[in-house]
Formats: sequence, structure tokens, C-alpha cells
Amino acid sequence: MGQDVIFSPFPLKSCRLRNRLGVAAMTRMSSPGESIPRKDVLEFLVRRAANGAAIVFTEGIVTDYESAQGYPRQARLLTQRQIDAWKPVVKSIQDAGSVAIAQLFHCGRVAWPEVNPAGRIIAPSAIAPKQKNPLTGKPYPVPDEMSRFDIEHVVQGFVETAKGAMAAGFDGVEIHGAHGYLITQFLSTYSNGRTDDYGGSVENRFRIARDIIRAVRPVVPGERLITFRISNWGIADMEVSLFQSREEWQEMIRLLSAEPVDVISVSTYEFDAKAFGTDKTMAGLTREVTKMPLMVCGKIFDRASCEDALRDADIVLSAKSMLLNPNWVEDVRQGKKLPSHKSAEANVAYTETPLP
Ligand SMILES: Cc1cc2nc3c(=O)[nH]c(=O)nc-3n(C[C@H](O)[C@H](O)[C@H](O)COP(=O)(O)O)c2cc1C
Repeated sequence: MGQDVIFSPFPLKSCRLRNRLGVAAMTRMSSPGESIPRKDVLEFLVRRAANGAAIVFTEGIVTDYESAQGYPRQARLLTQRQIDAWKPVVKSIQDAGSVAIAQLFHCGRVAWPEVNPAGRIIAPSAIAPKQKNPLTGKPYPVPDEMSRFDIEHVVQGFVETAKGAMAAGFDGVEIHGAHGYLITQFLSTYSNGRTDDYGGSVENRFRIARDIIRAVRPVVPGERLITFRISNWGIADMEVSLFQSREEWQEMIRLLSAEPVDVISVSTYEFDAKAFGTDKTMAGLTREVTKMPLMVCGKIFDRASCEDALRDADIVLSAKSMLLNPNWVEDVRQGKKLPSHKSAEANVAYTETPLP
């Protein structure tokens, strides 16, 4: 691989990424009351842009005031005050030469009842994750199986939040279809036991993702971006492979590629792990069946791992290295020896300690 692939630009519609390194979405749980993140949390995103990140994803932004919130103090982008709080942040990210994307999030069954404004947890089927909620030590409640009304309501929440993101000036939105939250719960037979046209075949399980993409696209103007994040793992019952085979994964990617999204973002636990008993990575298997621009994330921490990851994808996203090291982009450029951070180190993200 040529020396400068990491620092070569990448065109994405009207956006030009100045290099191949981005800030992955990170929930900070810093938004009490009005669902507006703390000032230092917003400034953190601007600083990463100023320090060279080509694209910055926001934390998962909750898509409605009913059942979408899964963690305390999450952000929203539905009211004028919330939009006004993000506007200068988005502008500063863009002025620093970076691209700003708002991630749209619905927790589904991975919910914390006390923080759920509707007092009602919804999911494709009335099946709870097996493990307990690590943050409360209590079992996750059994969710209500979503009605057609619920499905339409959830879709509308994504649309309204995308409108909020556009009003705040974002370059695009990301539909969070990864990590075992609501959309993944529909995609995977592990959590979707429906017998209507939102369950069963791959095509049916994909249907809510399709509904959301098609409903969001008209409010995200053509030159702005829709990225779709997808993974084979979920935050609860992490050891479970959410898709059964290479064929099932690739069928899902084919369906996704036929929709009006601009980027597929593959989130892995470890980017270079071989997937589904093949000798290919998740990103490699994805690339086999799509021509869409690809992003990849998961334990990418230094120059060598960035270069490796870019063999199967166009853009590398990092969470923990971006979180903990303000100079990560420059350190990668210089090929510095860098650590692969442990999950526990990232817990600082949820404290009030301002990050460098
Ligand atoms: C503090 C923290 C918060 C996170 N919040 C989100 C989130 O809101 N949305 C999301 O898609 N992923 C979230 N993630 C997952 C990361 O985006 C990423 O996929 C994961 O940390 C693996 O990448 P890494 O090895 O570079 O850390 C979060 C990770 C961390 C460390």
C-alpha cells in the first residue's frame, strides 16, 4: 500500500474527506434536562476536527420522546433549542475542514426503564436480551412487540430528527443499524421472531431499515450524506453472532446497497478478525458484494492497523483512540508507537472530567 493512502482525500458526494480517519460515534450521557450535551462534550468534537479528523460522528442522538432512549442523559435534535445548541458546533467542525454527521439512535429492547420517557419498551418481538443491564445490574425488561403504529411512529422519529440535523447544518445523518439496538433487533433472527412482513426472510427483517432510509432520504438533500452503520455484534449478549452466515450477511448488504444510502459503515469488535469461518474480514465480505464507499471500525489504533483496515474499506473510524488521544491523527501520520486502549479506559467518557 502506498505510503499516503491514510492521508489521501476521499470524495463523498459534495463532501471531500481530507484523509481517511474519522471520529466514531460516542455516547457521552452528558445531556441532562433538555437533551443538550455539555459544552465541553461539544467542544471535544470540534477539537478532534481541528486536530485533523476528516469526519466527525456525533453521539447516538435519540430519535423521539417515547421509547427511543436507552441511556441516561442522551441528546436529541428535535426542538429549536436543541438545534440552536448544535448549530455553532457543526459550523466549527466544518470550518476546521471536517465533515459533521449526526447519528440517529433508537435503543429498542436495550433500554433502561427509568430513563424511558414513555415508560414502555418496544422491540420487534417480546424477547429480552439474556444478560443483565451492566449499568443497573438488573435484567432488561421484556419489551412489547411493536405494532404497525409503533413501527410508523419510530420511522417518523428518524425523519424528525434528520430534519433537526439538517436545520442544525449537519453534512449528513447516520442511521444506527448496528450494535444490537432497535434496527439490528429487526435485522437479526436472534431478536426478531415476527411472523408478519417485518420478520422471517432477510428481506422482511430488513424492511424497517428500508422504511427508515426511504423516509429519511427526502429530508436529507441529495448532496448531503446518509450513512448506515451495521454490525454482527450487539452490546447485550455480545458473544452472539447476529447473522448466521456469510450468505446472510451479504444478502443484507445487497439489500442495503440497493437503497439510497451513500456509505455503509461496518462496525466490528476487531477489524481484522476473520468472519463466518471464512478467511475474510467483515469489511472484506462486505466489499465483495457492494460498490458503496465503506467505513470500518474496531480496534484500529496505529498506522499499521489503519493501513491494514484500509485494504478492505475506504475510511477508518476510531472511538477509543480518538477519545483518549487528542493528537491521534497526527500521531498516526508520524507512525508513532501507540496503544490499543482497553474498554475500561473509555469510561472517562461518561464522567464530567473534560477530555483533552
Ligand atoms: C464511550 C463510547 C461511547 C460509544 N457510543 C456509541 C454510540 O453512541 N454509537 C455507536 O454507534 N457506537 C458507539 N460506541 C462504539 C464505537 O463507535 C466503536 O464502534 C467501538 O468503540 C469500537 O471502536 P474502537 O476500537 O476504535 O474503540 C461507543 C464507544 C465508546 C468507547
